Amino acid sequence: MTDLIQYTTRGAVGLITLANPPVNAFSAAVRAGVLEALEGIMADDALTAAVITGSGKLFSGGADIREFNTPAGMQSPNLPELIEKTEAFPKPVVAALHGTAVGGALELSMACHHRVAAAGTRLGLPEVTLGIVPGAGGTQRMPRLVGAEAALDLIVGGRPIKAEEALELGLIDEVVESDVVDAAVALAEKVAAEGGPPRRTSELEDRVTADRERPEIFEEFRKKMARKARGLESPYACVECIEAAVNKPFAEGLAFERETFVRCVESAQSKALQHAFFAERESGKVPGVTKETSTRPIERAAVIGGGTMGTGITMCFANAGIPVSIIEVAQDGLDRAMKTIEGTYAGGVKRGRMSQDAMDACMSLITPSLGYDAVADVDLVVEAVFEDMSLKKEIFGKLDEICAEGAILATNTSTLDINEIARSTSRPESVVGLHFFSPANVMRLLEIVRGEATSPETLATAMQIGKTLRKQGVVVGVRNGFVANGMMLPYIRESEFLVEEGATPEQVDRVIFEFGFPMGPFQTMDMAGLDVGWRIRQAAAATRPESERYSPVADRICEMGRMGLKTKAGWYVYEEGSRTPVPDPEIAAMIEASSAEQGIERREISDQEILVRCLYPLVNLGAGMLEEGVALRPSDIDVIWMHGFGFPRYHGGPMFWADQIGLGEVHRVMQELYEQHGELLQPTALLTQLAQEGRSFGDWSAE
Ligand code: 3HC
Ligand code: NAI
Repeated sequence: MTDLIQYTTRGAVGLITLANPPVNAFSAAVRAGVLEALEGIMADDALTAAVITGSGKLFSGGADIREFNTPAGMQSPNLPELIEKTEAFPKPVVAALHGTAVGGALELSMACHHRVAAAGTRLGLPEVTLGIVPGAGGTQRMPRLVGAEAALDLIVGGRPIKAEEALELGLIDEVVESDVVDAAVALAEKVAAEGGPPRRTSELEDRVTADRERPEIFEEFRKKMARKARGLESPYACVECIEAAVNKPFAEGLAFERETFVRCVESAQSKALQHAFFAERESGKVPGVTKETSTRPIERAAVIGGGTMGTGITMCFANAGIPVSIIEVAQDGLDRAMKTIEGTYAGGVKRGRMSQDAMDACMSLITPSLGYDAVADVDLVVEAVFEDMSLKKEIFGKLDEICAEGAILATNTSTLDINEIARSTSRPESVVGLHFFSPANVMRLLEIVRGEATSPETLATAMQIGKTLRKQGVVVGVRNGFVANGMMLPYIRESEFLVEEGATPEQVDRVIFEFGFPMGPFQTMDMAGLDVGWRIRQAAAATRPESERYSPVADRICEMGRMGLKTKAGWYVYEEGSRTPVPDPEIAAMIEASSAEQGIERREISDQEILVRCLYPLVNLGAGMLEEGVALRPSDIDVIWMHGFGFPRYHGGPMFWADQIGLGEVHRVMQELYEQHGELLQPTALLTQLAQEGRSFGDWSAE
């Protein structure tokens, strides 16, 4: 038998333990091993029942995603076959669940005749997040256990639930505080002694019979999910499968689920979503940092500056249970910061997102401070004061004097050179960038900026902090705007040029929205506030070559005092109390005047041109950043765009998306744009090379 399965007996019970670290995925060998063990139990008359459990910290993470669309994935027994044989097994089979049991693992458990879970076990069917439907009977058995409404919620939401909730729903039979395997063995012995045929989920008809009388629940659910599922295929496919569970006999429903699974797993969306899953995990692997690299435990933190970012960052620490001091220069600034934090938490309590107790616990972890005494005993400082190099250097000089040896000194700068900041201390190895995105307590992306002197220990600690704060950390190098904001530049610039050439802001925004972003560039700028970009452009004006094309429209909008949503006017106008952008004839006239002034003859611009003009240049720059080494791998850029700017996950991020189009085509279009519009759109060397060699970013990163 394979060593990915451990097999022992406990009295008259055969105990099968999945042992395929790290997540006990059901690879071909594991499936074969479980089946072989079951057959052994069947053949042994001394054994009356079976228990299936997992070794290590979890039961199992489900099917082996790496086997999707490979021969190994279908190798007999495939997961549906194993699961059918488990349910049909003549002796009782009990699942003993702990840690996590998701996807195919929960599907197998639902086909076991009984389910016992350790308290706190997380159970779920997250397949929808991979662009598929549960493909091993999950959509058919779950409605039979918990009813169609709960099944819709769990399968379409892809959300894991705790064992306690699962027990209430009827998904499992028992939750135990004691050893779960002991409890499962005891239950197996008991049901075997009672005799009678095992309880088979596929034969439970009560719930689906009742649901058959309420066909409206499916239409209602489809309406409810429409906003969240925009552009996605698999949530709708899940609903269809659950509908089939209710309306068709089990075998037919199962066949329908299988067909749907096969269609989904081969779809472009699923491939993109699988890429996203692995890209997120890959981003945690960084040259020079290994499992052996020591990290500093973060028991206390301090944040310097209580403005927009400082308050949000402070909340991130408090939310993670880490005591944190927030430091301002004057009492009024400090009071304002604490009021902002309290108001944000109170808003969460009001909307039911957190309890009053949780808010009180967070507030009690935050200490407002004037002066720097509070940093003496902290493990980490995050500086978030004004974007001013001399101020930052002065602060890092002070931190160098006061902070304990080995403390991490982080800056949240968005544009300044971290190497220069590090040089203002005697310990540049402890300096790192922690670039949060606004609002810091909400946005998941965290760029972790590695300076030229940042030590592996500092970097490893920064990555650990990212995880503790439940952020999606991505390590990047030092460059103006780092990777995220740096790549935003051509995207914004080209959308402004398109508007000057004949498009309208609302047309550009519609094309980008229809592609799958939550909103287009102009609406995004209005939301963020136009003054931020204005200040950055003013600072860069002196170094901008005169020959470089520049659109003055955004500056003019700011000069009119229109700073976006916060002033109810920007690229659009907004009615009182509304966030809906309304096109403004005054802006349209101003844009047309600007085109005329620059001698640009306005023309009809197609949606396709808008899409490629907005997105190909950022892919091109992404390739440039890979060449420079500022981004480690294309998939890191994908993660940054998905989590920082809402690039549709079902397109897999800009670099994956470009690979699907083919870099030859992307390069051909970039070359054309370069010839039409000049040097800002010159194809980068890496894009050119990969296109010429017929390669993709995917195989470049695999080198
Ligand atoms: N298949 C293959 N590899 C998997 C995997 C899976 N189902 N789940 C996790 N892994 C890998 C990860 O890629 C990672 O690999 P790496 O170390 O090389 O980067 C490693 O296992 C550890 O994963 P995490 O870092 O995510 O570990 P955590 O402990 O944080 O989380 C988990 C564990 C909750 C199980 C999480 O990994 C997870 O959510 N996994 C995916 C679960 C899932 O979507 N399952 C459904 C699969 S589809 C299915 O079952 C099809 C069926 O319906 C037919
Ligand atoms: P802000 O202007 O809202 O806040 C800065 C705060 O720092 C003010 O409250 C000010 O009183 C305080 N401060 C100034 N000098 C100080 C000192 N010596 N000691 C303690 N506090 C001091 O600025 P914001 O937007 O929060 O930006 C802070 C930093 O974060 C900047 O470096 C910025 O580039 C960066 N950043 C900003 C983002 C944004 O969207 N606003 C996003 C990511 C990074």
